Amino acid sequence: MTVDGKISTVRRTPSQFTSPADKARLHAIRAAHDAILAGRGTVAADSMSMRLSNPELRARRVERGLPAEPLRIVVSRSGVFDPEWKIFQHHGSPLLVFSTVRMPEDVREAIAPRCELFLFDSPGVPLPAMLAILRRDHGVRSLVCEGGGELLHGLARLDLLDEIHLTIAPVIFGGHSAPTLTGTPGDFLPAPRDFRLVSQRLEEGEWVVHFKRRRQRSSRLPG
Ligand SMILES: NC(=O)c1ccc[n+]([C@@H]2O[C@H](COP(=O)([O-])OP(=O)(O)OC[C@H]3O[C@@H](n4cnc5c(N)ncnc54)[C@H](OP(=O)(O)O)[C@@H]3O)[C@@H](O)[C@H]2O)c1
Repeated sequence: MTVDGKISTVRRTPSQFTSPADKARLHAIRAAHDAILAGRGTVAADSMSMRLSNPELRARRVERGLPAEPLRIVVSRSGVFDPEWKIFQHHGSPLLVFSTVRMPEDVREAIAPRCELFLFDSPGVPLPAMLAILRRDHGVRSLVCEGGGELLHGLARLDLLDEIHLTIAPVIFGGHSAPTLTGTPGDFLPAPRDFRLVSQRLEEGEWVVHFKRRRQRSSRLPG
C-alpha cells in the first residue's frame, strides 16, 4: 500500500511499487498457507502465475509433509479469462476457478483441461460456500488472499478476514478512484472490523505491519 492508502494507480497498473524484499515476504506468506486466492482483476493486472518459485520455501513445505506449493484459487463473476494468461500455463499446484454460469462457453472449453471449474448459478461466487468446498474437498484450513480490493471488500463484508499483512511503501499515488485495500470508494462495511497490531518493523525503508482481527464487539461506527 502507498502512504496515501492506495494499492494501485487509477489506471490499475501492476503492483510493482514495493521492494524485492517485500516480494520475498509475500512468497514467505504464501508458503505458510494451504491456498492462495485472488480476484480476476488482480490476476489480469499483475499477470499472476500464483507460483511459489523459491526452491527453499518449496523444500521446507515438503519437509513439513505439505505439497510443494499452495493451491491456487481465482474468483470471477464474468468468467472472462484469456486461456493464454500465465496462470493457465503453470502446472505446479492445482488451480481452482470459482465463477458463475455467465462464463463464456469458449472460455470454459479452453480452461477446463487446465483447472478445476466451479460454476455457480448466482450473480457472484458465494464466498462462504467456496470456502466450505475448499475446506471439505481440499483440506484447506488457511488461505491467503492477495487481493485485489474488491475481493478483499467482499471478504471483509462477510467478516472473513482474520489477519492483515501490510507493507507501506514510501510513495503516494493520489487519485480518487485508485483502489485501496477494500477497493474503490463505495459501500461501507456493515460494521467496522477491528484489528490489533501484532508486529511492526521497518525494513529497507518500508513499514511492515501485521494485524490480527479483534473479535469483540466494536463501539466504533462507520462514518
Ligand atoms: N498492491 C497490492 O498489494 C495489490 C494486491 C492486489 C491487487 N492490486 C491491484 O489491484 C488492482 C485490481 O483491483 P480489483 O479491485 O479489480 O481486483 P480484484 O478484487 O482482484 O478483482 C475484481 C474482480 O474479481 C472478481 N470478484 C471479486 N469478488 C467476487 C465474488 N464474490 N464473486 C465472483 N467474482 C468476484 C470479479 O471478476 P469479474 O470482473 O470477472 O466478474 C471482479 O470484477 C490491480 O491494479 C492490481 O495491481 C494491488
